[in-house]
Amino acid sequence: MKKAKLILNEKQSIDLPIIEGSESEKAVDISALRSQTGYITLDPGYGNTGACTSDITFIDGESGILRYRGYPIEEVVHNTNFTDLSHLLIYGDQKDNSDLIKFKKNLRQHAVIHEDMKRFFDGFPPNAHPMAILSSMVTALSSYYEDSDHDKEEIIDINIVRLLAKVKTIAAYSYRKSHGLPFIYPEPELGYVENFLHMMFADSQEDHHSDNIIIEALNLLLILHADHEQNCSTSTVRMVGSSHANIYATISAGISALWGPLHGGANQAVIEMLKMIHKDGGSYKKYIDLAKDKNSSFRLMGFGHRVYKNYDPRARVIKSMTEKVLNKLNINDPLLDIAKELESVALNDEYFVKRGLYPNVDFYSGIIYRALGFPTNMFTVMFALGRLPGWIAHWREMILNPKNRINRPRQIYTGRSKRNY
Ligand code: SDX
Repeated sequence: MKKAKLILNEKQSIDLPIIEGSESEKAVDISALRSQTGYITLDPGYGNTGACTSDITFIDGESGILRYRGYPIEEVVHNTNFTDLSHLLIYGDQKDNSDLIKFKKNLRQHAVIHEDMKRFFDGFPPNAHPMAILSSMVTALSSYYEDSDHDKEEIIDINIVRLLAKVKTIAAYSYRKSHGLPFIYPEPELGYVENFLHMMFADSQEDHHSDNIIIEALNLLLILHADHEQNCSTSTVRMVGSSHANIYATISAGISALWGPLHGGANQAVIEMLKMIHKDGGSYKKYIDLAKDKNSSFRLMGFGHRVYKNYDPRARVIKSMTEKVLNKLNINDPLLDIAKELESVALNDEYFVKRGLYPNVDFYSGIIYRALGFPTNMFTVMFALGRLPGWIAHWREMILNPKNRINRPRQIYTGRSKRNY
């Protein structure tokens, strides 16, 4: 095994093992550092720190590569649907289709939520954000399944199905409730996306929700959001799951982390930004300058990424699907024109190019969600629906790893030294 020598001072040095991944990523294994030298490492924001090894998703940020279980997303997205992809992310390659067939049958059977849970929605104020409803309802699911904290594989599998099947129902109910509409029950014979659209829009006047283009666009969006290795919300799921909190509480923590405007909340923030620019006469150059101005807190939402210093491959696919959906539905959305202007100006501006700031997954996704009839405050819920199988896959990979320990980072104390009270 290759080693790295860390020389701390004239008297102290340590040889640390070098770990190499299947895509030649390299890491210095520091797990013996503190016990042998008393030193720890410090990496605020974890930009240089690997928390785990994983077989699920590979990202090469410099080259703009994203692969699920080795398959490039550009291929996956046009050759599967969201439930098949969810099974692949969570369980990996299977010897035959029998497990997948059972998985999809169970997803249809478990889509309803306990009737009593419908009363929970009455406790929220009418303007409650659907992410607040989603995170609390997902935690509340654990009170209906006393087996939710067992770690036997067949119990884990049934709770995975319950979560995947019920979260879309809760999401649809939160939309219906916030619009004073009656709940629409899931139809057991419908597929995942079709059932979700049914529960959201079955009684709406424009009956386009069952259009093939809508189903294709929603499958594509959910697949593109399905996993993204150790992002903020997935790392949160691994952190909370490492204490062996039940899967519902663990996923609810991921939903809360995703809500932040720097993370999944960005898709809502992008539309709010585009609307503001549109209202301001479409003067996008003023906002580009504002985004570059160190004294202004304004950021170009949907731009930049901790890992991608190249075009986010998901943004490219979403952009072309956006144009396809708007053309098909005959929608001319001025926000799309503003988004494309912003992109073309930013990609030729030294400030953005020097910092490797490109459109990310959130830059165009909101424009499709708008065209599909989703209200802006549902956009991050859509992100959560997509990311759910990724969170579950990472949680399951961690919980089934016999070497897994509770996550407990260290710190360097910089406060007051000992004094009398
Ligand atoms: C997601 O991690 C994932 O994988 C996340 C995600 C997933 O699938 O899970 O991909 C989903 O969260 C996408 C990101 C959505 N967020 C946004 O679009 C919000 C806007 N973006 C930024 O806030 C920012 O780019 C982040 C939060 C995404 C990344 O922040 P970093 O890596 O901490 O970068 P940074 O803040 O250190 O910025 C580096 C420089 C700074 O300038 P300098 O101090 O070097 O002069 O770039 C600037 C920043 O000011 N910068 C921006 C900017 N993003 C970074 N300047 C203007 N507009 C921006 N959007």
